[in-house]
Amino acid sequence: MVQYTDELKEEIRSANDIVDVISQYVTLKRSGRNFFGLCPFHKEKSPSFSVSADRQYFHCFGCHKGGDVFTFVSEIERISFRESLEFLAERARISLPTVENSEFNKTQYLKDRMYKINAETAIFYHERLYKPLAKIAQDYVKQRKLDNNTLKAFKIGYSGEYNELYKMLKAKGFKDEEILATGLVNKTEKGEYIDRFRKRLMFPIMDVSGRVIAFGGRKLENNEKMAKYINSNENLVYSKKKHLFALNLAKQSDSKKIILVEGYMDAISLYQRGFNNVVASLGTALTEEQGRLLRKYSEQVILSYDSDGAGQEAIMRGLSILENQGCDARVLQMEGAKDPDEFVIKYGSGRFNLLVENAISLVEFKIKMIKSKYNLENANDKIRFLKEITKVISNVDNKIEREIYIDKVAESYNISKEAIYAEVNKESYNSKANEKTLVKPAVKQEKVIEISPAIIKRENMIIYLLINHFRESYEAIVTNITLDDFKLEANKFIFEKILESPAEESEKILQTIANIEDQEIQSHVSEILVTDYEISSIEKCIEDVVNIYNKERLTNRKFEIIKELENSSNLTKEEIAKLEQELSEIIIELAKRK
Ligand code: GTP
Ligand code: MN
Repeated sequence: MVQYTDELKEEIRSANDIVDVISQYVTLKRSGRNFFGLCPFHKEKSPSFSVSADRQYFHCFGCHKGGDVFTFVSEIERISFRESLEFLAERARISLPTVENSEFNKTQYLKDRMYKINAETAIFYHERLYKPLAKIAQDYVKQRKLDNNTLKAFKIGYSGEYNELYKMLKAKGFKDEEILATGLVNKTEKGEYIDRFRKRLMFPIMDVSGRVIAFGGRKLENNEKMAKYINSNENLVYSKKKHLFALNLAKQSDSKKIILVEGYMDAISLYQRGFNNVVASLGTALTEEQGRLLRKYSEQVILSYDSDGAGQEAIMRGLSILENQGCDARVLQMEGAKDPDEFVIKYGSGRFNLLVENAISLVEFKIKMIKSKYNLENANDKIRFLKEITKVISNVDNKIEREIYIDKVAESYNISKEAIYAEVNKESYNSKANEKTLVKPAVKQEKVIEISPAIIKRENMIIYLLINHFRESYEAIVTNITLDDFKLEANKFIFEKILESPAEESEKILQTIANIEDQEIQSHVSEILVTDYEISSIEKCIEDVVNIYNKERLTNRKFEIIKELENSSNLTKEEIAKLEQELSEIIIELAKRK
């Protein structure tokens, strides 16, 4: 394996701004010096994940993960540190030193070829749709009312019937193993190459940047035995849980909403009728990765799933995923059609737009689902209904929002507001009590040595000063503060590293620290780096912190002397006089410092 040099590592680091990189996974909002967002490494509702643009570090105050851009990528992509380097090099189009046949090179090259094959294939299928031999497909698109603009926008096509694609790709110079890697062609046991998609209407699936990465193909024949749709298998460039159909188009929309549908045809049909903010999850349950994509490109997600029972189930799951990521998710309620495509054809885009406008929230949806189980005319049912919905309402964090729901429920279901309030309060009290009993033992175990938050903050700030203002602070700090002054192990460790490295290497401090391969230390450093210590004057700040330590030292010595004087029986007169002298000097000194 080729060793990557530190210079190269730094080049890659500086070419990948941490805020840009993290923004691809997490929605970040600026607040002062830092950016905040919902941590991608643990579930949370209010943001405790912080990114410092100046220091190029991230830190989560909830789960304590933190580090630099390489740490982030290796954690989120679940790859090794080395792979994160390669990943970011590719992102910044920095070429890496290679030995002939290195694995990384080979994979990169293969991926590149696969993108090319997919692109050529999309063109091939699309052009084929307009040829006389594609009459069956042309009739079908007419029947489904797709117009030519739509066919172009989605590059809809018609596949070959046997091995036309394979022949075309071979003629273009692609190798068998490259073609097989895309899954667009299969090799039979007899060694024959046959196209995967035959006699199907083809929908290219593109990634966010518009590169073709896979295909879906719909059957055109009325043959019950055939699968209605077949899709590309997962491969090097396509992972179905990480992509959403038509997101490349939807992300260009001015709308702050994204409408999420289940099928290709729903997305395409809505697009044709003026909704350019539609994406499809392609029949699979919404994944967390897809949730993140949606959050990144929209402020509100409208789930518009099929109106069948399976659709309702999928909505529940989809909603929770989106909510967990802090997404504003709504549910579109549709009657009189089985899916959005059918609805918009039957009732027009105006009516569909009304449905979008009237989409309901997760809480309202849950209440509706609960309602459907009970007969509210029946007194017992009504009580059970009330108990179930109060659980849902109690989980709403925002007080005003909670009140709105209570009002709504009271009105819609003719229940007194007071009754709902009483239940909700009981419920929140219970869940809080549970939390307490759950939290307590864990806290107890961790409290081995108690160091006050003020001391931790102060120590952290010293490390912060050394990292960020080395030239101004180094002298003052090392002459006044010793290793033993540090109480927190992590700070002691870092301070020792700083003392060990030569003083002139000020610029390299952060690098030295970044190279410490201890997760806890990294997490601690990242926390320090993203904390805003609100320093207005560096000099004053250094002076203050140094003062605190000197004062503490004097105070400790003062108590030591007092103790010694209290047990002075074994001391000589001179010794006592000396101690008294020192004590008065300390008292004067301390008074001066006040
Ligand atoms: P039309 O029936 O042409 O209107 O398609 P649709 O987009 O409305 O599809 P449907 O609601 O039946 O299914 C939703 C999505 O699930 C489709 O777009 C496909 O992505 C996927 N899907 C449906 N049927 C199959 C199948 O037989 N196999 C696979 N792999 N996926 C399917
Ligand atoms: Mn349909």
